[in-house]
Amino acid sequence: MSKKKLVFSGVQPTGNLHLGNYLGALKKFVSLQKDMECIYCVVDLHAITVFQDPIQLNENILETTAGFLASGLDPDKSIIFNQSSVSGHAELAWILNCVSRMGWLNRMTQFKDKAGADKEKASVGLYIYPNLMAADILLYKATHVPVGDDQKQHLELSRDVAQKFNNDYKCKDFFPLPEPLISKNISRVMSLRDGTKKMSKSEESDYSRINLKDSADEIRKKIKKAKSDSEPIPDDIKMLEKKPEALNLLTIYAELSKTDLKKTIAEMSGKDYSLLKAKLTEILIEEIAPVGKEIKKLLNDKQQLKKILLKGSEKANVIAEENLKNIREKVGLI
Ligand code: TYM
Repeated sequence: MSKKKLVFSGVQPTGNLHLGNYLGALKKFVSLQKDMECIYCVVDLHAITVFQDPIQLNENILETTAGFLASGLDPDKSIIFNQSSVSGHAELAWILNCVSRMGWLNRMTQFKDKAGADKEKASVGLYIYPNLMAADILLYKATHVPVGDDQKQHLELSRDVAQKFNNDYKCKDFFPLPEPLISKNISRVMSLRDGTKKMSKSEESDYSRINLKDSADEIRKKIKKAKSDSEPIPDDIKMLEKKPEALNLLTIYAELSKTDLKKTIAEMSGKDYSLLKAKLTEILIEEIAPVGKEIKKLLNDKQQLKKILLKGSEKANVIAEENLKNIREKVGLI
C-alpha cells in the first residue's frame, strides 16, 4: 500500500479567476509543486452542474489553464489537465454516488446557497457535485488538497466517502483520507462591497472583486471604491471584527506584503483608510497586473494551451487507470 504524498486540487472554469482563487488556492498550488507531486485540474464537469454556454465554456477552460500557468504552475513539474479528458472521474463518481449517503449531501451548505429557494429546479448534478469532487481526489489517491475555506465541508465529505468505501469493501487504508490544506492567514478573501460575503465569480458587481485579468487602472478604481470605514484604523482586532470590510482589506494587505495581520494592524492603527488603500493598490498592481498580462499573452496561443492539457491528461490517465483497475476489482466489477 502506497503512503506516498500526493497533492490534488481543482478550479472551475466558470469565468474570471479572482484574488480569492489566487490567494486561497493558486499561490498554494505553486508553492507545493516545489517539493511534492501535484495534480491540478480544470474541473469542467463541475462547471456544467449549472448551465454553461458551450462556446464560453470552451474559452473558459483555456483561460483557467492560462491562469494556472500565469500564476506560476509549471507543466513539467505538475500535471495540469481538464477533468472531462480523463473519463475515470465520471466512472468513479458513479461508484461513489452509490457509497455516499443522501443525508450527507443534504447537509452541504454550498448546495443550499447555489440552489436557492427553489431546490426542485436545481440539477441533479449540482446536488451530487461533492461526490464528483470526492472522485477527483480519490481517483489519484491524493493525500493533500489545497483549497480555500469554502471547500472545507466538501473535503470532509470526501473523507467520509473514502472511509465508508474502505469499510464497506473491507479494504482498510485503500483510499487515504485526504487532508485539506487551508491557509491560516487568509482562508477566505471577502467581497470588496460586503465583507460578510466571500469574493466570488458569481457576485453581480465587478467592483466586489479583483480579477486576475484586471488592468492597473481597474485595480486602482476598485480599491478606491472598496467599502472601508469613516473612522481611523483601530488597533484592536476585536473592533475590526465588527468592520468586516476593513478587516478584509487589512488581511489582504498583510498576505501580499508577507507580514502577519497583527503587525499590519500595529503599523496601520490610527491612520486613515486612504493610506492603507494606497499601499494595497500598489502591492496589488505589482503582484496581480503581471499575472493578468501573462494570461492575455498565453491566450494568444490556444493550440499551445490545448497541447499542455492533452499532455497532462495523458499523464493523469495512466495513474487513474491503474487505480481504477483496483477499484473495479474491490467493488466486484468485471
Ligand atoms: P472554485 O472553482 O469555486 O474555486 C477554486 C479555488 O479557489 C478557492 N476560493 C477562495 N479562496 C479564498 N477566498 C475566496 N473568496 C475564494 N473563492 C474561491 C476555492 O476554495 C478553491 O480552492 N469545488 C471546487 C473545485 C473542485 C475541487 C475538486 C477542489 C472540484 N474538484 C477537488 C479540490 C479538490 C470549486 O468549486 O472551487
